[in-house]
Order: sequence, then C-alpha cells, then structure tokens
Amino acid sequence: MSMNSPHMMLRRQTSSVRSGGDAPDVKIDRPTISRIFRFAARQKGKLIGFLVLSVLASVVGVVTPVLSGNVVNAITAGGPLSTIGWLAAAIAGLAIAEAVITIANRWLSSRVGEGLIYDLRTAVYDHVQTMPIAFFNRTRTGALVSRLNTDVIGAQRAFSNTLSGVVSNIVSLALTVGVMVTISWQVTLLSILLLPIFLIPARSLGGKLAKLQYEAADHNAAMSTRMTERFSAGGATLVRLFGDPAHESAEFAVRAERVRDIGVRVAMLQATFVTALTLVSALALALVYGLGGWQAVAGTLDAGQVVTLAMLLTRLYGPLTMLANARMDIMSAVVSFKRVFEVLDLVALIREADDPTPLPDGTLSVAFRDVRFAYPSATEVSLTSLEEVSTLDERGGTEVLHGIDVEIPAGRTIALVGSSGAGKSTLASLVPRLYDVTHGAVELGGIDVRQLSFRDLQRAVGMVTQDGHLFHESIRENLLIAKPGASEEDLRDAVHRARLDGVLANLPDGLDTVIGERGYRLSGGERQRLTIARLLLASPPIVILDEATSALDSTNEAAIQMALGEAMEGRTALVIAHRLSTIKAADEILVVEGGEIIERGDHAALLTRDGRYAELYRTQFRQDS
Ligand SMILES: Nc1ncnc2c1ncn2[C@@H]1O[C@H](COP(=O)(O)OP(=O)(O)O)[C@@H](O)[C@H]1O
Ligand SMILES: [Mg+2]
Repeated sequence: MSMNSPHMMLRRQTSSVRSGGDAPDVKIDRPTISRIFRFAARQKGKLIGFLVLSVLASVVGVVTPVLSGNVVNAITAGGPLSTIGWLAAAIAGLAIAEAVITIANRWLSSRVGEGLIYDLRTAVYDHVQTMPIAFFNRTRTGALVSRLNTDVIGAQRAFSNTLSGVVSNIVSLALTVGVMVTISWQVTLLSILLLPIFLIPARSLGGKLAKLQYEAADHNAAMSTRMTERFSAGGATLVRLFGDPAHESAEFAVRAERVRDIGVRVAMLQATFVTALTLVSALALALVYGLGGWQAVAGTLDAGQVVTLAMLLTRLYGPLTMLANARMDIMSAVVSFKRVFEVLDLVALIREADDPTPLPDGTLSVAFRDVRFAYPSATEVSLTSLEEVSTLDERGGTEVLHGIDVEIPAGRTIALVGSSGAGKSTLASLVPRLYDVTHGAVELGGIDVRQLSFRDLQRAVGMVTQDGHLFHESIRENLLIAKPGASEEDLRDAVHRARLDGVLANLPDGLDTVIGERGYRLSGGERQRLTIARLLLASPPIVILDEATSALDSTNEAAIQMALGEAMEGRTALVIAHRLSTIKAADEILVVEGGEIIERGDHAALLTRDGRYAELYRTQFRQDS
C-alpha cells in the first residue's frame, strides 16, 4: 500500500532527478538501454525475485478490497458468522503476507541498487585510473568526482525505483482496473475520465519541478566548487591579498538566494501536486459512492461491491500518476547512465603493451630517436562536460618538440638547459610515458618505452618535478607510495640522505605527521626534499630531475646536491637545471630552444662557442657559481 501513496510517490519522482547539468533532453536510444540492462544483468537473480515479489504484492493489494466487499455482503446478509471470521482471518493473513513481501522486496531492491552502485563505481574508478595525464590536466576534478557520486547514484536510484516502479505499477494498475471493470464498467470509466483533470496539470507541474531542481542543483554545484576553491589555503590567501571580500560574499549570496527561492517554489508546487491528487481521489470517491450507491439501490451492484470499488479506487491514482511521469524519470535515469558510460567510453590514449618486453636489470641507457611531439588536443583526451566548458578547446596539436635525437649512455648524466617554454619538461615527461611521442621513439636500454609493462617502466624511471605532489597523508605514507614494502630503516635512510632529519625532528609525530593538502605546512624547500627522499627510496636506474632543486636556498642546495649526486651515482640521469653546479657535473649539456636542441657539448666547449649557452651562462647561471 505504502508504495503507492502520493507522498511517497512524489518524493520518489523528484529525488530521481539528477543534480547538476542540464535538464534531460536526450533520446532514449536502444544501445544505451541494452547497455544498462547488460550492467544490471549481473544482478539478474535478485532483479527477477524483486519483480516477482512486486507482482505478488500487487495481487495481494487487489484481493484485500474484494474480500472486504465480501465481508460487507456477509454482514448485510446477516451471516454466517464463520464466513465473516474466515474472511477477516484471510484479510489479516494477506496483511501479514504484504508486510513480509514489503521487507523482502526492500532487501532485494537495495541489494540490486547498491550492487549496481558498486559495479558502476568500481568500473568508473578503474577506468579513470587508466586515463592519460593529459586528461587530468584538462578535467575539473569536481566534475569527475560528481560522475562517481551523483550520476552513479542517480543511475542506481532510477534503476531500482523507476524501472521496477514502472513494472509493478503497470501490473498493479492492470489488476485494479481489471477487477473494477468486472464489478462496474460504468463506475470505472467515470473514475478514469476524472483523471485527465488532474493528470494534465500534474505533468506540466512535474516538468516545472524538474527544471527548478536542475537549476537549484547547478547553483549548489557552483557554490560548492567555489567553496572548495576559495576555502583552500591557496585560494584564501589569494582573496586575502588581492580579493574583495564584499564582492565575493555578494556573488555567493546571489546563488544562495536563488536556491532559497527555488526551495520555496518547489515546496509549494509539491504541496499543490499532493493536494490536487488527494482532491481528485476524494472527488472520485464521492463519484463511486454516488453512482455505485445508485446502481446498488437499482440492484445492479451489491453493497460489498461498492465498498470494493471504493477501496480499489485508492490504488488507482498513485500508479497512474507515477506512470504519467515515468517518461521523465526514465529520461533522467538514462541521462545519469549516459554520463557514466561517457566516462567509461573514454579511450585511454596511453595503453600498456599486450605482450610487454621484459626490462633487463642494471643500469639502462635512455635514447630519444627523432622525437616529435604535440600535446594531444582536448577532443582527443577529454569531454566537454568534464571540463565544464561549452566547447572543447581545439588548440593543442601544434608540435612542441621537433626531432630530438639524444642518447644518454647508461650511468651518464645529461643536463638540459634553455629558456622557459623551450620544451625541457615536455621532453622529460616522455620517458615515464606521461605522454607518448607523436613520432619517433623513446628507448630505455634499447627498448621502446611503449613495449614495456607499466610496472617495469615505473620501476625503471624516477622523476622529481618542481611541484612534486604530496598527498594529505602522513610523511610515512607519502614516502611509502614509492616503495610499499620499505622498512623503517629504509625510510630513515632516505630521509637522512634528503637532509630532512632536522625537519623531521621538529615535527610533532615524526614520520607519522600528516602534511597538509599539497604539503602546505612544509616550506617549499622541505616539500621538495621530501619528494627527493621519495626518489631515493624508490632508487630507480633512471632518474629525471626537473628543476628539482629550484625551491632550495643555497645552504639547502649544497646539502641536497650531495644527496642527489649520491642518488645519481651509477644511474642514468636527465637533469633539467638552472644551477651551474648541477650543469657542470653533467657529462653533456644540451641547450633546448623552441623544441630543438641547438647546442650540445660540455661546459668549457659551449662557453668557447659563445652561443646561446654562453648567453644563458652570463645572464642566469653565473651568479650562483
Ligand atoms: N599540458 C600542456 N598542454 C599543452 N601545451 C603544453 C602543456 N605543457 C606545456 N605546454 C607547452 O609546451 C611548450 C614547452 O613547455 P615546457 O616543456 O613546459 O617548457 P620548459 O620546461 O622548457 O619550460 C610550451 O610552449 C608550453 O606552453
Ligand atoms: Mg619546465
């Protein structure tokens, strides 16, 4: 019974509206539907059980009014008492059966629903992990996270409520109308004719409601994006330094105000809807008693049948309204599914070789063979909806590296120098396959990086960048990422070699101190040393240092240089540097400008040449010599 009450139904209908994004305007296409069912097929057994029980519940719901009518007739006929007793017992039995079915059904539907959430979530999470770095560079994290939360839950809710609701409501409606028609087609017809008076405005009401809720969801999403952005340490600092708090508040307030107004309007529309539904049912009830009563007096019906009709009537309008709005519910369900599928359909640009070549042990050479590279364009790696822009940035695709040929023999160090934007970091990022070359190849120990397993590649290459990321976790956890099984001694040793003992001694919980988001509570230099400690711990045969010492002051630098020298000892190293000490220590120096190597040689030879390197030396390197 409760499943069809107007309040329940309305809540269900409105809550299935997905938050965020635009109102559903997609077509319900066959491939999507069959894909949804394929996903749901994993829950097949439970799903069938659920549908069977739903039908059973509908049958029980129709039998009770019929039995009640029989009781009335038995009463009018003056007995026998035993009949009344049996009927009452049957009604009681059905009530108990209905209670049991309700509980069992709830169990099944929640198992199906939660199972679906689980399947979708893990599928999306696993898939997003395989996405290339280019994808994460473009995507708004918030938008991505909402796919995992809002849309997955929207899809599940729609599935376990709407789809099953449609089935059980159709069954329930068919049974109810069927029984009513056999009792009195005239009363049934009139009751149904009354319906459009209510149904037509109800549909437009539903549309309006959905629109408002989409709008509110958009505002809510915008507010929370804003809050995460402004209330991060970096954002708050920016506003404190340059922003206008009054203006910030005003912008926020405008949205909050709209959400408030929408809230009131939604409440009123819902109240109108429920009241109208109650009113129509009440009017129909009057009609049943009037017309049915008249037929009963005329002798075509008996009193019991009038009671049965009246009771059945209460079961008529709920399912009808639900079905009238089902299209919209199914729409929003399909939209949720589509948004999830959209993410699952993104093709991972960087794929692991099917039959990877094993990497030899020991030191490895690194070679760039006629490497050309263009950053992938947005259309290749991203989705409009995840970037929260209306059209994808079509740029990208312009070549950044134009034919780079470099060979770093095993165990040697090469330094890259050049102006900012020359392409140094881009070149470095090709080694661990953060990106794949557009043309040519990058080889480790003579093997194309694309032929290696991800695991081997990860073990072979260690990279420290200028803005090495730290998770909001303890120092220990941040270090263990590089080497999950590391012993306490390994950790201490890495920390020591990164010259972090002093820092660690001053932290409240030592290695177990949680460092703030992006390591905020550490200074830039300390953060960088921690990322160096991570590299020392991993101790890969190939190390890439991309301005890894940029945030260190001279005292720190001297110490860390020694540590880095130690880390580079016996390893192949690609170092992007702007400190003379590092550059001089390299076996060869490459000058990169405009995506090409324009000069190469050792320090002395390059100075003699008096070209770009000599110029960089005079303007940048010399002061810290
Ligand atoms: N993620 C990216 N997407 C598109 N273009 C990029 C990206 N990163 C860098 N670039 C461009 O590639 C060129 C080389 O950049 P980069 O390798 O970072 O230079 P460097 O490290 O030498 O300062 C620049 O023109 C820069 O604008
Ligand atoms: Mg760079």
